[in-house]
Amino acid sequence: MAETTSTSQLDDALETAADQIRRAQNDKDLRPSIAGFFDEATNTVSYVVHDPATREAAIIDSVLDYEAASGRTSNGSADRIVEYVEANDLSVAWLIETHAHADHISAAPYLQERLGGKLGIGREIIRVQEVFGKLFNAGTDFERDGSQFDHLFVDGERFRIGTLEGIALHVPGHTPADMAFIIGDAAFVGDTIFMPDFGTARADFPGGDARELYRSIRRLLALPDETRLFLCHDYKAPERDEYAWETTVGQQRRENVHVRDGVSEDEFVEMRTTRDSTLAMPRLILPSVQVNIRGGRLPDPEDNGVSYIKIPVNAV
Ligand SMILES: [Fe+2]
Repeated sequence: MAETTSTSQLDDALETAADQIRRAQNDKDLRPSIAGFFDEATNTVSYVVHDPATREAAIIDSVLDYEAASGRTSNGSADRIVEYVEANDLSVAWLIETHAHADHISAAPYLQERLGGKLGIGREIIRVQEVFGKLFNAGTDFERDGSQFDHLFVDGERFRIGTLEGIALHVPGHTPADMAFIIGDAAFVGDTIFMPDFGTARADFPGGDARELYRSIRRLLALPDETRLFLCHDYKAPERDEYAWETTVGQQRRENVHVRDGVSEDEFVEMRTTRDSTLAMPRLILPSVQVNIRGGRLPDPEDNGVSYIKIPVNAV
């Protein structure tokens, strides 16, 4: 019985999302303006999404530059976003994270200080905080209730950016907390699917699950064919020399090397699991996750005024 209930709720959220997308496809005033900012050091794409009518904006998946060898952070990538927001006279309503990233530190706290806006992430971040709070042996002062964020999104939750409609969809698999954010006719899908010639996100981090990832992706691919998909990463691909991060549902259903129409759940799980077993951990996973589960804030400085990032030895 429980399963029937949760399936019909999922269908409702997806149907609402599809209706929103169709409305925006038929009316250009309901479509957002989108700027992508590619960070070559971590292959991450950050987005500024805004409503042309009210100039209200959301910043999705920002990057704080971090030099692992020296432990130095800098704001070059984030400042490109600040410049764009100021040059276009935007007012930032939201700073959104699609998930707790394992490959870069979020610049959300820096951007919030400069530009304002509410910091939001998926509600399941509390499960990620639980798992990684243990790994990093964080003290009881580390709250595992998502309180480091201003807002926790749940599946099917609707929101607005100016006059634009938005809806959040829970798309776990890469991590338990991954969300996709659909704004007008554009879907920001986080780490689920990548360009059709590259495939999909890995599913082997703590709390990841290839079967869940397949279901989340197929759910996104049930949206209308013309839905614009904006990806969180690009790594190029064999026979492609340029970075790319925009595609459509239709193109993915026809061409995605991992999950195009016709690939079964079992085939995907077999492929994903085999491939994941050959991948090294991302270079910045340990610094990134311990900072990102705190909403992108560095651990409190010690009594000498310096903030420290921990590395668990032989634990991952
Ligand atoms: Fe990720």
